[in-house]
Amino acid sequence: MCGIVAYVGHREACPIIIKGLKRLEYRGYDSAGIALMNESLNVYKKKGKVSELEAFIAEKDVHGHIGMGHTRWATHGEPNDVNAHPHFSSSKSIAIIHNGIIENYAALKTLLLEKGHTFQSETDSEVFINLIEDIRTNNHCSLEEAVRLALHEVVGAYAIVVLSKDDPDQLVAARKGSPLVVGVGQGEYFLASDATPIIEYTSDVIYLNDHEIAVIKNGELDIRSKEDVKQTPYVQRLEMALESIEKGGYEHFMLKEIFEQPRSILDSMRGRMIAESNHMMMGGIREFENKFVNAERIIIVACGTSWHAGLVAEYLIEDLARIPVEVEYASEFRYRNPIISEKDIVIAISQSGETADTLAAIELAKSKGATIFGICNVVGSSIARATDAGAYTHAGPEIGVASTKAFTAQVTVLTLVAMIIGSKRGTLETTKLHELMVELENIPDKVEKALQLDEQIQEISAMFKDATNFLYLGRGYNFPVALEGALKLKEISYIHAEGYPAAEMKHGPIALIDAQMPVVVIATKDSSYEKIVSNIQEVRARKGRVIAIVTEGDNVIPAMADYVIEVPETSEHLVPLLSVIPLQLLSYHIAVMRGCNVDQPRNLAKSVTVE
Ligand code: AGP
Ligand code: GLU
Repeated sequence: MCGIVAYVGHREACPIIIKGLKRLEYRGYDSAGIALMNESLNVYKKKGKVSELEAFIAEKDVHGHIGMGHTRWATHGEPNDVNAHPHFSSSKSIAIIHNGIIENYAALKTLLLEKGHTFQSETDSEVFINLIEDIRTNNHCSLEEAVRLALHEVVGAYAIVVLSKDDPDQLVAARKGSPLVVGVGQGEYFLASDATPIIEYTSDVIYLNDHEIAVIKNGELDIRSKEDVKQTPYVQRLEMALESIEKGGYEHFMLKEIFEQPRSILDSMRGRMIAESNHMMMGGIREFENKFVNAERIIIVACGTSWHAGLVAEYLIEDLARIPVEVEYASEFRYRNPIISEKDIVIAISQSGETADTLAAIELAKSKGATIFGICNVVGSSIARATDAGAYTHAGPEIGVASTKAFTAQVTVLTLVAMIIGSKRGTLETTKLHELMVELENIPDKVEKALQLDEQIQEISAMFKDATNFLYLGRGYNFPVALEGALKLKEISYIHAEGYPAAEMKHGPIALIDAQMPVVVIATKDSSYEKIVSNIQEVRARKGRVIAIVTEGDNVIPAMADYVIEVPETSEHLVPLLSVIPLQLLSYHIAVMRGCNVDQPRNLAKSVTVE
């Protein structure tokens, strides 16, 4: 993961880099470091958050108009000052920041050690910079040429920026597998892992492609391929508002993002459906309409929360469009020689659009001839660009590491996809389609209503904040919601939680239930309501403490549950969009009460660009 920022231009580089690193901190926060070029090339780095680096450099001379910074999510070597980036080469004449993993670092390190290079850290990144130095010394070549040649030697994923003491006005950057955006300003350039450190300075950006090298020298940008062929960059205009990446009065990004959902859900369906005229449109599908209509199978690949959205889509697509769906963890799919044909459609779901496993699953499916449809939130991301067609979720930047509004936006887009294919295939009748469209239009208001449960959920959270385990149960459309609720709780509060299909409980997890075990049961009125009522009884009979998420007006479950949270009534197909809201709030409040860092939970990072 890691966040990368670099600057060259007429302004002081340090404040721009530090501010940028803070915006990228969601990508990793094990350590932070900065390299600045002034009379010499200076590197300052510190274990911990960017704020610790900031305090560390407060008294130092950090002037300079060219520099680079890094916020790390450790892969090779524990988080400490020495393993923090930037890393110098042995001679200290060049330095690197790196996002990714160099898989053949051990073999390269052995060779470089034999040649007399020395290493301070345990990182693969330090091997990379020594390799560049070695090539430069042996070939007496320019820095950019040495970087280019080094790229032919390394195996793995990287986004790098290199600074050299001997080339004080130059930044060399390259990418493969990890993102890198170039911001083009008036006589100044920015490099960053995403556009957030750039937006207040310029809206013109270039998303670097894999195997491209960008050299910024004497105020000019030159982009070349690994084979040294000059590339014509495509400058895009950013459409991102600064407010969207700030907390806007909320204590945490996660809370802000939970409360943004009425709007983000609306944005994800905007322009894609008019219930009044029974009209639906989605550019990406239109292009591949026949493929979708005739698909023999849909395979969904994703990770984490996006995988849960994929599970909701399985229920939706099979139910409304009658196409068999398989939902795969991208990390398993990519390594198990899956059977894929040209008649398959692969839907890849990813908030960040940078998840390494999902990207690799896409490449594999592509190589076997499948059509790939992407559902991403981050515009211009690697996955968005690697797919044949797709739809953006338009949820706006999601900064909190725990995904919330991205999930509901994904589910909304997937609902639209299922409805469109269903109606084209004739498996979803017009009246039913219309009903669903009307109901979908009502969802943002109902989410707004569900958010009003916040105070009640805070009270419930206080009762359970010290629990050590949680069980989440749901059936049908609410089964993926149970998984998502459990994931939210464990990732931000560090409480062990498991999500299960409610009926599976009796095949094992029921043994865990005693008077100490909180059991969250998502029991909205749907086709399996009666069944889940029985499951609640089974929990009660073992003295489990039941927190039930029910449909407004339910008069059966309140008599048997310890706590009842009522969400507005909706169609069974759309219920995850409402039932997930109290679970997001529950995990948020419990985590806050336990003093956890909600936006930056330990060991995690927002986009997982490593395997
Ligand atoms: C969600 O709360 C997680 N932090 C994580 O599971 C995430 O959903 C997963 O890493 C996939 O990310 P993506 O959607 O950006 O591909
Ligand atoms: N592999 C490098 C390190 O451990 C970079 C890590 C990353 O990008 O996640 O420092």
